[in-house]
Amino acid sequence: MASPVVSAARARLALFLAAGLALGALAAVVLVPNVRERLFTPLKISSVGRALVGGPFTLTDHTGKRVSDTDFRGKFLLVVFGFTFCPDVCPSELQLISAALDALGPKAERIVPLFITIDPERDTPGQLATYVKSFHPRLIGLTGTPSEIEAVAKEYRVYVRKAPDPKSTAGYSMDHSALIYLMGPDGAYLAHFTPGIGVETLGQRLSGLVG
Ligand code: NI
Repeated sequence: MASPVVSAARARLALFLAAGLALGALAAVVLVPNVRERLFTPLKISSVGRALVGGPFTLTDHTGKRVSDTDFRGKFLLVVFGFTFCPDVCPSELQLISAALDALGPKAERIVPLFITIDPERDTPGQLATYVKSFHPRLIGLTGTPSEIEAVAKEYRVYVRKAPDPKSTAGYSMDHSALIYLMGPDGAYLAHFTPGIGVETLGQRLSGLVG
């Protein structure tokens, strides 16, 4: 039978290990974007092998024109969700897809890159116009009413959360998942990529997928 002293020490050790595991799990969720994406962006695969991602939308582009998903039929869509006030993930993701498109050469003409804001409050067409031009001449920015944006984010299984941010003049920031979606010429989901994929790999994957 263990002495009370040894039992207490064991109990402390067990508590210490449990706390360590809990902290480790929390750190994994906070620090590893992939873990976050898997938790927040479950991609459900249907029985016919097609992911239930994407769907119809009508939004306003960065020139103020109303556009629908059907306007892009016949082209592949590279779809990214984000917001222009995003400090780091969105800019690096847009640099990544811009560089990958440039690496594709003439094949890139088959792909239309779309940046859909999840912050319609601040991302007006004018705000988007300046932003998208700073990344790629063919990048299209899309905004809409809060309910239009909520609907399209839901269709693409995008995790969005408004969070207080005292450092921002607007007083808030947006947490969001950051997957890159490739939709086919028929509008159906083809593939998704994580922001950490790298220009070369993304270029190769796209090159294979768009034929
Ligand atoms: Ni972002």
